[in-house]
Amino acid sequence: MLLKIENLHKTYYTSDKKINILQDLCLELEQNEIVSIFGASGSGKSTLLNIISGLLSYDSGKIFFEKKIFDSSFDFTSFRKNDIGIVFQENFLLNEFTVIENIMIPNIIKGIEKNIAHKNALNLLDKFELLSIKDIYPNSLSGGEKQRVSILRSIINNPKLLLADEPTGSIDESNKSKVFSLFKTISDDYNTSIIIMTHDNNVSKISNNILNLSKGTLK
Ligand SMILES: Nc1ncnc2c1ncn2[C@@H]1O[C@H](COP(=O)(O)OP(=O)(O)OP(=O)(O)O)[C@@H](O)[C@H]1O
Ligand SMILES: [Mg+2]
Repeated sequence: MLLKIENLHKTYYTSDKKINILQDLCLELEQNEIVSIFGASGSGKSTLLNIISGLLSYDSGKIFFEKKIFDSSFDFTSFRKNDIGIVFQENFLLNEFTVIENIMIPNIIKGIEKNIAHKNALNLLDKFELLSIKDIYPNSLSGGEKQRVSILRSIINNPKLLLADEPTGSIDESNKSKVFSLFKTISDDYNTSIIIMTHDNNVSKISNNILNLSKGTLK
């Protein structure tokens, strides 16, 4: 088991009300497994993803990553640097840097030498047949290309867990299946586990498990 969530509760408070956004939510994720989570807008998909990535606090429940529990002794900095990759709806590529430079950035942040980071990014671009765009700036790419580049950036540190928040939400229909098949290849070739929050039915082809987030819990 790579990730286990037990009885998770999360409440948001606004000036006049209390929203129980996640209630008694449980989730298990094996190594190499792709789990897709559907849910209406506002159901709490991004909330759950931010909690799993250690960016957002929760009220109660237990989260285990490789049997280590999320508590005050858990090394969240190392977890975010080494163990997880995140893909957002918006690609958040840096327009001042070329495609290959964007992909290298997480390696550089981790302290890997620039020439090695460059080689790692080159290998990824080659494997996923995007070498032809390596020196292009993101502004000149199509939406689908941008998202595929952002996915390569998310895996350059070889994460065990990849989290994707509506990764096809901003791209055209013809590119959606390309993005999902990229996730499938990543899972198959690198044993990566993937959680995909989505509204997109194209995801069913690549998913081992499809869940629905409703009334704060997963079914
Ligand atoms: N910091 C906050 N304070 C109060 N309410 C919040 C806060 N963050 C999110 N919410 C509310 O919690 C609910 C769940 O938000 P969340 O972003 O997790 O939903 P979502 O399923 O990702 O939606 P979408 O599909 O639109 O991205 C929403 O109603 C949102 O307005
Ligand atoms: Mg969301």
